[in-house]
Amino acid sequence: MWKEIEAAPADAILGLTEAFKKDKNPGKVNLGVGVFKDDAGTTPILNCIKTAEKKLVETETTKGYLPIPGNPAYGAGVQKLLFGADSEVIRSNRAATLHTPGGTGALRTGADLLKKFKPAAKVWVSTPTWANHKGIFTAAGYEIADYPYYNAETKGVKYDELIETLEGVPAGDVVLMHVCCHNPTGVDLVGEQWDKVVEIAKAKGWTPFLDFAYQGFGDSIEEDRAAVEKFAAAGIDFVVASSFSKNFGLYNERTGAFTIVTPSAEETAVALSHAKLTVRVNYSNPPAHGGLAALTVLADDALYEQWIDEVAGMRDRIKAMRAKLVDGLVARGVEQDFSYIKEQRGMFSFSGLSDDIVEWLKVNKSIYIVKGGRINVAGLTSKNIDYVCDAIAEALKA
Ligand code: LMR
Repeated sequence: MWKEIEAAPADAILGLTEAFKKDKNPGKVNLGVGVFKDDAGTTPILNCIKTAEKKLVETETTKGYLPIPGNPAYGAGVQKLLFGADSEVIRSNRAATLHTPGGTGALRTGADLLKKFKPAAKVWVSTPTWANHKGIFTAAGYEIADYPYYNAETKGVKYDELIETLEGVPAGDVVLMHVCCHNPTGVDLVGEQWDKVVEIAKAKGWTPFLDFAYQGFGDSIEEDRAAVEKFAAAGIDFVVASSFSKNFGLYNERTGAFTIVTPSAEETAVALSHAKLTVRVNYSNPPAHGGLAALTVLADDALYEQWIDEVAGMRDRIKAMRAKLVDGLVARGVEQDFSYIKEQRGMFSFSGLSDDIVEWLKVNKSIYIVKGGRINVAGLTSKNIDYVCDAIAEALKA
C-alpha cells in the first residue's frame, strides 16, 4: 500500500537530531532539540534520580499495571509543585491529575478530552509556538487559530495585540499558553499581565490550556508557577499539561501529567471520569518508572533539597552560556545587537538568526539550530562556544 504514498517530512525538531547523528563532521554541534547538557556535552541523569532509582529497584515488588490516572501519590506530588502545598485548589479537591507519557501525552490527552465536549472549539496558539503544538491539536481534530505573541522588533511580547485578541476569543474555545520559559522565544508574560489574561479568561469563558514544561528553568520552582496560581485563584475551569522531562531530566522515561481544575470537587470528579476514558482508549495507563522515580524524590526531604539544587545548577549553567554567547559575538566584532539573548528565559534563545543563516550554519559548519532561529542554549559548552561564536560571526558577515 505504501508504493503510491510520498514520504512524510522529517520532524522540525527531532528530525534535526536524526540529521545530526548522520553528520560525519567531528566538530558538529547540536543546538536543536531541547535537552539539557552539562559542560561535558552529556545529558546527565540527576543524582537525586540515581538515588531514587536505586531505592525503587530495591523496594519495587511488582510491574503490575498502574491505575488509569497513575499512582495517586504521583498526582498529589505533581499538584504540590503546580499549586503549592497549601493551595486551596488542593484542599478543596478541585484538581485531578493523571500521570501521562510526557508533556506531549498530557497535551494530547487534554486535546482529546476537551474535543469530546466542545467539538466545534478552536484552539488558539501563540505566534510562534512549539513546533509540535499545532500537530498535536490538528491530529485531535481542532482548527488552529493564532494569537499575536512575539514582537521581533522589541524582542518582547506584543502585549496590546495579545490582549485585544484574547478579548475576542469566543466562549468555549481553547487558548494554549506557556506558563514560563516560552518555547521557542524565551519571552514570558509577567505579574499583572497574567492577571489581565486571567480576568479575560474568566469574563469571556474560554478555556485556558497551560503548557508547563520548564518549571524551575526560569527563576525557581515557586516563582515559575505564579501564573498557574493566578488561574487557580480565579475559580475557573482550566487544564495544565506539565512535564518532568526537563526539570527531572527524565526525557526518555516519558514522565508528565495532565491536571484538570474546575470550580468544584463535583465537577472535577466528572471531568476525571471522562479523562480516564480518554486515556484508556489511547495508551490505557501510564508507564511507571519515571513517575515513581520522581515521586521518590518528591517524597523524601533530603532528595527534594538535592533536586532543587540540581535544577538551580542547570538553570545557572544555561544563564552563564547565554552571557558567553552574547559576549563572544561582541568580542568577534558582530555589530548586530544580541544582548536580548541574556534576558530570555529557559532553555532556548530565540536568536534572531534568519532561516538562511540557520541553513548556512548547518551546511557549512555542522551546527544544528531549529528553523526560525531557536538555539538550545544548554547545548553550548566551554568546548564548542568559540566554534559556535566564530561560525555565527562568519555567517553574519558572509
Ligand atoms: C523541544 O522543544 O525541543 C523539546 O520540547 C523536545 C521536543 O519534543 O520537541
